[in-house]
Amino acid sequence: MQLFLDSADTAVLKDLAATGLVDGVTTNPTLIAKAGRPMLEVIAEICDIVEGPVSAEVAAVESQAMLAEGRRLAAVATNVVVKVPLTREGLIATHAFAREGIQTNVTLCFSAPQALLAAKAGASYISPFVGRLDDYGAVGMDLISEIRAIYDNYDFDTEILAASIRNGAHVTAAAIAGADCATIPPDVFAALFKHPLTDKGLDQFLSDWAKTGQSIL
Ligand code: G3P
Repeated sequence: MQLFLDSADTAVLKDLAATGLVDGVTTNPTLIAKAGRPMLEVIAEICDIVEGPVSAEVAAVESQAMLAEGRRLAAVATNVVVKVPLTREGLIATHAFAREGIQTNVTLCFSAPQALLAAKAGASYISPFVGRLDDYGAVGMDLISEIRAIYDNYDFDTEILAASIRNGAHVTAAAIAGADCATIPPDVFAALFKHPLTDKGLDQFLSDWAKTGQSIL
């Protein structure tokens, strides 16, 4: 399973990328606004930090304007993936990007039929928003399972990128449901390393080791 970071904070991305466990990055207009810097500059910097796919979202709502923006974003670096909203116009643009060989991440997916249309349009990634569906009173992870079944039935190549991940349980459930990737906020990613029993066990081992008076080197 590929693990992406959902952030445009380059300092935080550098820190976590140093673990060697970050396969890619996703951004959105909200995250770019939080970064408070010019988008193209931030995306270029992120593409230097992480070798894998870096999603950069268009701001236009009409397909021709999305294509113009997406081509500009794709020119920033070879690992840019153009993020497009799951609208009729977005899928028209997705289809055109596919024919141009530009990778796309179709975002704001909240239903299985939407995901089916995105795959038919040639999306490289589909981003179902698990947490926001949970907030809405649905079971977000059910959508991942539905999309997995549909894509497997028809051998679609579109990768399922579980998004709007809020906690480690979401990461576990997305992995069990067969998501190809999950994009994770940095604080949730950092928490994945931790368990209180790991800390407790390590304290005990270190204390017992100290009592031996030995040194490995
Ligand atoms: O980047 C898209 C998605 O991951 C947003 O998550 O927490 O704002 O619903 P959230």
